[in-house]
Amino acid sequence: MTSISTILEKTSFSQKDLEQLLQCEGEEKTLLFMKSAETKESFVGKKVYFRGLIEFSNVCDKDCFYCGIRKSNDQVKRYNLNDSEILDAVRFAHENNFGSVVLQSGENGSPVFTDRIENLIREIKQLSNNRLGITLSVGEQSETVYRRWFEAGAHRYLLRIETSNPFLYRKIHPDNELHIYDTRMNCLYLLRKIGYQVGTGVMIGLPFQTISDLANDLLFFQNFGIDMVGMGPYIEHSQTPLYEFRNQLLPLKERFDLSLKMIAVLRILMKNINIAAATALQAIDPLGREKGIKVGANIIMPNITPGFYRNDYSLYENKPCVDEEPAQCVGCLDARIALADGEIGYGEWGDSLHFEKRKGHLPEDLP
Ligand code: 5AD
Ligand code: FES
Repeated sequence: MTSISTILEKTSFSQKDLEQLLQCEGEEKTLLFMKSAETKESFVGKKVYFRGLIEFSNVCDKDCFYCGIRKSNDQVKRYNLNDSEILDAVRFAHENNFGSVVLQSGENGSPVFTDRIENLIREIKQLSNNRLGITLSVGEQSETVYRRWFEAGAHRYLLRIETSNPFLYRKIHPDNELHIYDTRMNCLYLLRKIGYQVGTGVMIGLPFQTISDLANDLLFFQNFGIDMVGMGPYIEHSQTPLYEFRNQLLPLKERFDLSLKMIAVLRILMKNINIAAATALQAIDPLGREKGIKVGANIIMPNITPGFYRNDYSLYENKPCVDEEPAQCVGCLDARIALADGEIGYGEWGDSLHFEKRKGHLPEDLP
């Protein structure tokens, strides 16, 4: 078996190399984390960028087997912020010098919803004199809708593939036309074709998932040429079908460790992309996001949803900070980033350097 230090010297990595990196422990793990921290510093620097996350509605048409806000969960109290509540949160982000906001919600393809988003994008641009960057994370939509939103001013889009293994995808979603792997993949291609900076990601430690699946996820990000990745541990939710398999999962601590290794290996593989330290890391370890920053992540998405709605956007259990108000988060984050030896890129968009480089050079594999 090749040693970890030999693998870390390489400039291209086989699937087996990646599997070995994901399984390393002890001193080898320390080497991996040192290499990823170094890579991060020389390619994207020390800056950590904030995206103010507004979870504006937990109403969802879909029924993913892992997700607490799935349509069939009738124990969820559903909410939908009105426009002025959303714009208040946006103003908060602007006043606190966050470079960007992320609008996230459950999935909804109705014209009322898609028109509303378009309107909100224009209002956010106006309210901030074009200063705030806008990221959308509102699921699978048609090409026309993606295009309208892009033309209105959104410039980044997050759509996690959840797993790049179509068989595993099938196991964690209902078998119907709303949950098709190829549709999701096609959406990622559409978003790139339209001109968005495209972000995707996976859950780590899902039931039935193997190390080889995770290595393939990393290769998928690389082959697609993704600009941003957000990935974190899968956390079981008692009101979802996957809860049945909770006894087959890795212990939480191991899922957490594996997530850090995924971030570190990805940073080494894709040196200049933006990598988010997922909130789910913090659900397991109070310093989870900071640890993610240390080993390679450079984006944090502070939750700026008004406090009284936060408890109801419960994708997984034990979600952190649900009782805070946004203002409390800002002071808290300042301290946290300093602890992780980072600097905050206040007032900057913090675009993916990977995107900057590929602009005008779209890969030829577009459908
Ligand atoms: N554990 C961890 N992450 C989850 N997500 C949804 N449910 C869970 C869960 N139980 C993630 C999915 C989704 C994102 C918004 O939250 O990856 O894309
Ligand atoms: Fe809402 Fe999966 S349950 S998108």
